[in-house]
Amino acid sequence: MSQKSAQQKKTANGNGAPIVELRNVSKRFGRLHVLRGVNISFERGKTTVIIGASGAGKSVILKHIVRLLMPDDGEVLCNGQRIDTMSDRDLVSIRMRFGFLFQMGALFDSLTVAENVAFPIVEHTRRSRSDIAKTVAQKLAMVGLDGLQGKKPAQLSGGQRKRVALARAISLEPEIILYDEPTTGLDPIRSDIINELIIKLQRELNVTSIVVTHDMASVRRVGDRVVMLHEGHFVFDGTPAEMESCSTPTVRQFVEGRAGGEQLAGI
Ligand SMILES: Nc1ncnc2c1ncn2[C@@H]1O[C@H](COP(=O)(O)OP(=O)(O)O)[C@@H](O)[C@H]1O
Ligand SMILES: [Mg+2]
Repeated sequence: MSQKSAQQKKTANGNGAPIVELRNVSKRFGRLHVLRGVNISFERGKTTVIIGASGAGKSVILKHIVRLLMPDDGEVLCNGQRIDTMSDRDLVSIRMRFGFLFQMGALFDSLTVAENVAFPIVEHTRRSRSDIAKTVAQKLAMVGLDGLQGKKPAQLSGGQRKRVALARAISLEPEIILYDEPTTGLDPIRSDIINELIIKLQRELNVTSIVVTHDMASVRRVGDRVVMLHEGHFVFDGTPAEMESCSTPTVRQFVEGRAGGEQLAGI
């Protein structure tokens, strides 16, 4: 605890470590060299959008940040502490600071909405049932779904399922929310509801957000910063406006929504 408040003080002074940092991270799967010495740090309280072709390694980056994957080489740090070498026991408290909205939403189909949102709280705390019910209602209200506690995921639309998954991701009041393609598969109106929520949560909870997306509308809407992953490195780092005016062909392809042959080969 004292370490945490010391960290917060340091950050308040503006000389703290970045909230998340990857240093020279390399990752191979067999012959596939997905990350080739990635360097990036994420600034506290900001929303960074990660773009890149299908198969570029965007989800692999997010998985390194929560140690669902380990680097072959390099370091992953959270608040200046290495998490790639941390014991599983110490990792538990670090993981609780992250909310992760997985690519497929991934709700438990046999559980109700309330049970899904409560799941991390039950798993990690000893709070009372009534206290948990209150938190569940509050988190569902944040995503505009209070009242749906008793429904099963199958009774919800795709957009509602994403919002329930988001309520679950924020159930333990994370400092950092990782979103993996939060708007994929949603129509523009439902996508925009999710984009609005990302902005709202960032403002109201003062979180740091890292958003992987294919969706240029999302980039423009939610991004303070946008970075592009290509052939194992970040090849662009700037604001969404800077990206719009960038002349690098790989970046332009993305801005204009054209999929190049090499991108298709990666699918
Ligand atoms: N656990 C794994 N085992 C083997 N290959 C993987 C694994 N995870 C990802 N890959 C491969 O790494 C590449 C990058 O994957 P991913 O990060 O999911 O791409 P995307 O940028 O679309 O999110 C893909 O070619 C994928 O097949
Ligand atoms: Mg992915």
